[in-house]
Amino acid sequence: MKPYFIKDLKPDDAQRIEDRYLVRNADIRDGNNGKKHLYMTLGDASGDIQSVKWSLTPDELKAYAKIEPGMVISVVGRCKDYKGQNQLIIDAIKGRAQEGSYDRSDLFKAAPEEPQAMYDYIVGKINEFKDEDLKKLCLSFYEGEKDRLMYYPAAMSNHHAEYAGLLYHVKRMMMMGELACQVYTYLDKDLLLAGVALHDIEKLDELASDENGVVPEYTLKGKMLGHLVMGVEAIGERCIELGIDEEKCLLLQHMSLTHHYEPEFGSPKKPLFPEAEMLHYLDMVDAKMFDVEDALRFTKPGEFSERVYTLDNRKLYKRTF
Ligand SMILES: [Fe+2]
Ligand SMILES: [Fe+2]
Repeated sequence: MKPYFIKDLKPDDAQRIEDRYLVRNADIRDGNNGKKHLYMTLGDASGDIQSVKWSLTPDELKAYAKIEPGMVISVVGRCKDYKGQNQLIIDAIKGRAQEGSYDRSDLFKAAPEEPQAMYDYIVGKINEFKDEDLKKLCLSFYEGEKDRLMYYPAAMSNHHAEYAGLLYHVKRMMMMGELACQVYTYLDKDLLLAGVALHDIEKLDELASDENGVVPEYTLKGKMLGHLVMGVEAIGERCIELGIDEEKCLLLQHMSLTHHYEPEFGSPKKPLFPEAEMLHYLDMVDAKMFDVEDALRFTKPGEFSERVYTLDNRKLYKRTF
C-alpha cells in the first residue's frame, strides 16, 4: 500500500511525505527570481495534485528535463495550502521508480470491470441489433479498434480518465439506453445504441493515450477538430466504404455532432430527433454520476468530499448508512 495517497494529504509543514507518484504532466518554467522551477501534476489512484520544485540547480535542470508524463517517480516533499488547494512542495526527487517496486492499482486509475468483459457486453448488444446496416457499421469500428479500446480512457482528466474508461462509459450508457427505450417506447433502440457505441469513438484519435490509460496530451487533430467533428468524418467515410444507407449515416453523424448539446462544449447544433436528444442525456448522466462516485470514493462516511470542479465546485456528502 502507498503510504501517502493524494486524497489523504493535508497541509502540514511538519509532515515529510515520501512516496511514488505518477507524472501526469511536467513543465520547467522561468521564475520571477531568475531561477527555473519544475511544475508537475502528480497523480495516483486517488487523485491528482499540483506540485512544484523551486529553484533548480544546473544538474537538476538537466536531469528533470527528462521527466515525462506517464513516468512513476519517487519524491520527498511537504503538502501546503495554495489558494485553497493542496500543493506538494518537492524537496527532492529520488528518481524513477522501477516497475515492480509499486502496486499498479495504487497509481493508475482503472475501470472496475475487466476490459474484455465490457467489450464482450458492448459487442453482444451490437450483435442483437435488428438493423443490419447499424450492426455492420458499429462492428466495423469495435472489431477494428479492439486493441486500443482495451485500455483507452474517455478523457484526459475529469470523467472516465482511467484505464479502459471509454468501454466503461459506453457500457453503462448502453445499459441506461436499453432502459430508456422501455420507458420512451417511440425511441428506436438500434439507432440509440448505435449512437451510444459511436458517440465517443473518435476519442481514440483525439487523445494520445499510453497503455496505462494516461493521456499526456491531445493529438493535433484532436486539438483542431475534436471528437465530435472527427466522428462525423469517420462515420461518413466508413458508411461509404460499407455501403450504409445515407439517411442512417446522416443521423449517426448528427448524433456525434450534437451529443455535447451546447456550442460552448463543442456542438454547433442541438439534437433534432429523439434518439439524439436521449443520447445527450445518457452521456451527461453517466459523466456526472461518474464524478459523484469518484468524489466520494476516498471520502469518509459523515464527511464532505473535496470541491469537485466538474460539479460546479460542490462538496459532496457521504452518508453514514
Ligand atoms: Fe463526447
Ligand atoms: Fe461520452
